[in-house]
Amino acid sequence: MKLFDVYPLNSITITKAKGSYVWDNEGQQYLDMYGGHAVISIGHTHPHYVQRITDQLNKIGFYSNSIKIPLQEELAKKLGKISGKEDYHLFLCNSGAEANENALKLASFYNGRKKIIAFKKSFHGRTSLAVAATDNPTIVAPVNETDNVIFLPFNDEAALQECFAKNENEISSVIIEGIQGVGGINEASVSFLQLIRKLCTENVAVFIADSVQCGYGRSGKFFSHDYAGVNADIYTMAKGMGNGFPVAGIIIAPKIQAKHFMLGTTFGGNHLACAAALAVLEVIENEKLMENAQQIGNYLQTELKKIPQLKNVRGKGLMIGFDVPEELKDLRKNLLFNHHIFTGEAKPNVIRLLPSLSLRKKDADQFLEAVNEEVEALALKGIEKINN
Ligand SMILES: Cc1ncc(COP(=O)(O)O)c(C=O)c1O
Repeated sequence: MKLFDVYPLNSITITKAKGSYVWDNEGQQYLDMYGGHAVISIGHTHPHYVQRITDQLNKIGFYSNSIKIPLQEELAKKLGKISGKEDYHLFLCNSGAEANENALKLASFYNGRKKIIAFKKSFHGRTSLAVAATDNPTIVAPVNETDNVIFLPFNDEAALQECFAKNENEISSVIIEGIQGVGGINEASVSFLQLIRKLCTENVAVFIADSVQCGYGRSGKFFSHDYAGVNADIYTMAKGMGNGFPVAGIIIAPKIQAKHFMLGTTFGGNHLACAAALAVLEVIENEKLMENAQQIGNYLQTELKKIPQLKNVRGKGLMIGFDVPEELKDLRKNLLFNHHIFTGEAKPNVIRLLPSLSLRKKDADQFLEAVNEEVEALALKGIEKINN
């Protein structure tokens, strides 16, 4: 049997990882500024994480959600404390798409409505409702097409107000990434998030904060939406939650009541997933990784802004994007093959940095040095061209 070929692949095989570094099968070391797509929150193979999962696996890895799993309660308590949302309730699942699917569905159960407001350049996942709320028609199959999703321009306050006025008593939820990831690192403005809060409250609609990529401390605050000083009704989370172990969840404001069987899952919240998620939170807390993300992120942005060829350096904490001009379009490839540094991309010509929240200054400096070398090499080529 062969693999179903859905990913364009770099021909690199990673066999070992530690902190912000990975190694290939020939022993070549790489700096990981991509965090395996924003997943590696506390660093690869963190000893506390490895130990907690190993210990748990030796006791019990899985039993069904038909029994009490005290680790889930421990996780809810810890998550409530670190996120500052202690009165919310936790539902555990397995992936970002599933978290958003459950959030959109729960909103509809709550207010009995069907319409969803989503935004241009959004990405919310590949399951039926999540993909319908994703602004990329190429990944929406005919069976996922629906008139229930209204796409509005990102950060357009007038369009949002107009949409609520036009669809009175029909809007079930508004779903928004605090910082769009796949869309190219676009920050929702403080006033836009505040307006969403206000309009959702006035219209009994549910404010869903997709924090799958921008959450879990990556922005320097636990949820990037926290920068606006408002609470969403549901936060969805995945990627950084398990540092690579597939675990996801939604936290739900107390006004939304649970009913038996309204949501459910076989694997979600299993013993092993909870152990992984608890280990992540313990390391985030003990090693002050949110503060580190803010500090190293600010340093990276300040230094990147000094390179005039890089345009529109943006983001928060360790979720950073910048535009590269046409003449530097190979920058990402060159960083990988000349300097052995993984970065992320968002088309067209946007580089995304999503490293571990434990990234050190010297790792950031290694990256900056490589970018500067590539920019200088390009400038030299330009001079040679003129001279010839
Ligand atoms: C903002 C956002 N939401 C949802 C998802 C979907 O997550 P998953 O791939 O775990 O289903 C992603 C994945 O990139 C994402 O960036």
